[in-house]
Amino acid sequence: MTITATSTDAPVARQTMLDDVIAGLSQSQKTLPSKYFYDARGSKLFDDICDLDEYYVTRVESTLMSEHVGEIASVVGQGVLLIEYGSGSSLKTRSLLKYLDQPVGYVPIDISGDYLAQVGVDLQDEFPAIEIMTVTADFTGTFEVPNPGTPESRRIVYFPGSTIGNFKREQAQSLLAGMAEVAGADGGVLIGIDLDKDRDVLHAAYNDSRGVTAQFNLNILQRINRELGAGFNLNNFRHEAIFNADTSCIEMHLVSTRRQTVNVCKYSFEFEENEMILTEYSHKYTFGSFEIMAAEAGLNVKRSWTDPDNMFAVMYLERV
Ligand code: AVI
Repeated sequence: MTITATSTDAPVARQTMLDDVIAGLSQSQKTLPSKYFYDARGSKLFDDICDLDEYYVTRVESTLMSEHVGEIASVVGQGVLLIEYGSGSSLKTRSLLKYLDQPVGYVPIDISGDYLAQVGVDLQDEFPAIEIMTVTADFTGTFEVPNPGTPESRRIVYFPGSTIGNFKREQAQSLLAGMAEVAGADGGVLIGIDLDKDRDVLHAAYNDSRGVTAQFNLNILQRINRELGAGFNLNNFRHEAIFNADTSCIEMHLVSTRRQTVNVCKYSFEFEENEMILTEYSHKYTFGSFEIMAAEAGLNVKRSWTDPDNMFAVMYLERV
């Protein structure tokens, strides 16, 4: 097999990032897009978060996937094309690929082109019988799914990690609708979602005692300083994640610890003491709330797997 690489999107352009940052900081509730967390340091810090005791998400999902991989593989079927949104290192997908019944291809989609290319080469070595076709793209935008040399029986979109929760309700719904389209009439969607739970557990997961999530959050300012020449003083902001019960959502903030002015290129922004920049949403679902959103996107929940404490769920969906 030869590895195919498709690039449908350039790496994040400086101008796009500048536009996003200026637009976000110009709102009355200042915001920064969470996609800018993931530079090299941010991705490493996120890996460290996944290893924290308090951050149950990765651990519980991995356990669920390994406990039910046989059943998941049989629901997914034989000869599929597996398409993963935001694949990163594809680390956890390797065990799924091992269990699937003769998949014809795997399409990891990620915005970090160089990293993805290396992951693709490693995967092709590890899985010589599966055609690995990397796609460098922002999965929230438009991209082409390459056709494998051997036609697939059906397409399965895979979106693990509960990343769907990082989108606002309307965006999450349209992302699901896009997945339904990519999967096609006979395809399916396999997705991980984080479930609503005890407030203290949520609070600890997003305000960890070692301060890794705080570093992850503050790193966005460091990235903006480096890439846009901005003047954020990281000592003048602190991390705080709060659960919003109305929207069932963890909201991550950077709190200005003093009154200050910050320059970003030719723009300057005033911060009051305790004013917050909203940096990330992390929605927590119930089975019912997720099912309603999926149905609005044209998808039916066919199967689901959850842990005994109902912390996390892996859902398998098909088009209505
Ligand atoms: C990537 N995403 C699913 C993580 C989450 O839990 O929402 C990002 C994260 N933010 C803080 N900790 C982890």
